[in-house]
Amino acid sequence: MSNQLSETEVKLNKGEIDKILEKYENEAGSLIPILQEVQEIHGYLPEEILTYISEHSKVPLSKIYGIVTFYAQFFLVPRGKNTIKICLGTACHVKGGKRVLARVEKVLGIKTGETSSDLKFTLETVRCLGTYFLAPVMMINYDYFGKLTAERVSSILGQY
Ligand code: FES
Repeated sequence: MSNQLSETEVKLNKGEIDKILEKYENEAGSLIPILQEVQEIHGYLPEEILTYISEHSKVPLSKIYGIVTFYAQFFLVPRGKNTIKICLGTACHVKGGKRVLARVEKVLGIKTGETSSDLKFTLETVRCLGTYFLAPVMMINYDYFGKLTAERVSSILGQY
């Protein structure tokens, strides 16, 4: 899957990016809010767009990459419409969290940290979702699925 936007797509968004850059033009330390707002356009920050921001804000591209790679809120590759978080904390691990993860990976054909080719799902693991009484637990967007078994995975994913 290509992570690059076509030139046409980038061109189409230049107007929106210009508006964001203008809004913060004279504000020091505004790079993070600029990147947050620009990311909202596509859900991630493609290289072409970061280069465009660098050229038009006079901030070195290396500095922009430093910020984007430091903060977990920024993404350099496309994200799925739905984010799956599978807990592998102690309580969930003991109750079969890894089996649930293996089934999700198998059903979607992706590994942790990847996005399905249809851009429906991004798969992540977490250390605790604060709901150990539901172990093993998985979250899809804001929905919790607790006391999970691998057998239930397909039907749950089918709801999305
Ligand atoms: S260990 Fe899984 S919710 Fe905390």
